[in-house]
Amino acid sequence: MKQYLNGRWVALSILLALLAGFSIPFNTWSYSEFFALMGRRQPNRVWPEIFAIAGIVILFALIEYAYQRALNRNVAIFNQKVREHLLTADFIQTNQAGVADRLSYLTNDLTVVENNYLRQIFNIIRSVVTVVVTLAFALRSNFGLTLIFIAFASITPFTPKLLAKKTAHRAQQWSARVGRYMTFMADVLKNADTVLHYSALGFFLAKGRSIIGQSVTAQRRRDNTVAASNLVATVVAYVCMYLPIGFGVMMVVRGQLTIAAFVAVQYASNWIVNTFLVIAQSRNQMNATRPMLAKLAAFKALPANLLRLDQPTDRLGQFTALNLAAVTFAYADDAAQPILQTINLRVHQGEKVLLTGPSGAGKSTLISLLTGMRQPTSGTVQFQTAAGKAFAPDPTMFATVLQESNIFNDTLRFNLTLGRHFSSAAIQAALQKAGLAAYAADHGLDNLIAESGNNLSGGERKRIELARAFLYNRRFLVVDEGTASLDPATAAAIQQILLTAPMTVVEIDHHIAPDLSRRFDAHYALNAGQLTRVTA
Ligand SMILES: Nc1ncnc2c1ncn2[C@@H]1O[C@H](COP(=O)(O)OP(=O)(O)O)[C@@H](O)[C@H]1O
Ligand SMILES: [Mg+2]
Repeated sequence: MKQYLNGRWVALSILLALLAGFSIPFNTWSYSEFFALMGRRQPNRVWPEIFAIAGIVILFALIEYAYQRALNRNVAIFNQKVREHLLTADFIQTNQAGVADRLSYLTNDLTVVENNYLRQIFNIIRSVVTVVVTLAFALRSNFGLTLIFIAFASITPFTPKLLAKKTAHRAQQWSARVGRYMTFMADVLKNADTVLHYSALGFFLAKGRSIIGQSVTAQRRRDNTVAASNLVATVVAYVCMYLPIGFGVMMVVRGQLTIAAFVAVQYASNWIVNTFLVIAQSRNQMNATRPMLAKLAAFKALPANLLRLDQPTDRLGQFTALNLAAVTFAYADDAAQPILQTINLRVHQGEKVLLTGPSGAGKSTLISLLTGMRQPTSGTVQFQTAAGKAFAPDPTMFATVLQESNIFNDTLRFNLTLGRHFSSAAIQAALQKAGLAAYAADHGLDNLIAESGNNLSGGERKRIELARAFLYNRRFLVVDEGTASLDPATAAAIQQILLTAPMTVVEIDHHIAPDLSRRFDAHYALNAGQLTRVTA
């Protein structure tokens, strides 16, 4: 949590929380002071004191305002830093969970953390000051009676513990159900065409009704549990409030206590109990945020080399081959069954290599090892240089073209440059090589590309990805079913660009025609975890 905050703003908020904590004790003192004023019967003192008290109360209102502003600043800093962290953490990698689930984490869970954790920490500080100062004032008015009041009041903060586990569990359930609802809605939004063409909206309503029902029920249950927890706290607090009042009234009746002193102790104690309640409720809310905080802590920052702006791809200028030696890989949850077993593969610079194999054979997994996105369970993946040196691959040395194009909801220019500066000549040359020059001339570089490239043809999306690789002068291109979703003519045109590109290309494709596969320098097949060479 610390790394998402700014020490100076936290310190200022704590200071203001401490000052704001004096507001209620002052209130308490001024209330008993009214009784003292009545007792003194000095009319000329009344108005000056009333004005002074009103002035100080207004001062406290200003402190409260400053405190709220500082709190808002802390929340803003937290939101900024957490979101920046998540943008550069493994949170962005889709292989963990669905996109919708993580978007829901950003919108729902983080808002809960913001309101029910961050704000409550400072509120508790303020409340503790209120309790301590009010308590000191009450003790000065009547020590014994105050002790009775406090003995009962000190029972109340233990009440939130009673339902803490249930509260946390309910919050977790709610988060999971909202995630499911988001996933369902993302499916409907992405596949609305299919839903409508197959007259399936009614079925989706039936399915959605239950998923929506579960998420709203989970929210209601979570809120009800917090309410029940608060009810328990309130009932305990009232019992603890009225019993000591009885003792105080008895003391006044017996002439052991003045009415003014009773008013001071009772009013002060009332505030103490109320403030204890506020603390208990804040702690309840904080308990409910534990699963969200645990999830936040679980997202790990990506390796720093992925944030470097210089281009390590230049190091690839020297490589003679990429070597996979005795590479074995198993996914952690399936460690006993390696997907890839002792794979040996050598890709020479400039070669065009084809990799085929049935679906699920592990082709995409092999690619992720090759590009350094994943590390092998055993064996090595290394680039070799003419000078006999070896270095590990790094994802920033490769360009990839996958079945689902990576297109950004920004201009054509941004989709090529990704924000880096390139000369117009370099951009034009890249467009030319990718066969996009005519499109760019018609639409202009500042043409806005829709989300997921929805205003482009499949071929145009591929060509943008290729133009990007050319512009970045990527020397190693990995294509994973890159032409699978294209019509034959477009696929052939894209293949032609790939096969003649001045770069090393490793391509995965299972519907490649024999006459096309012969144009590759090497053809391997992956089957049951083993890699075999199909052609010499
Ligand atoms: N992130 C993952 N975690 C666990 N298993 C996975 C993961 N990704 C893929 N797999 C499994 O690994 C196997 C190979 O998947 P993949 O490399 O995508 O195959 P291919 O690309 O050849 O179709 C499949 O059985 C798949 O279920
Ligand atoms: Mg695959």
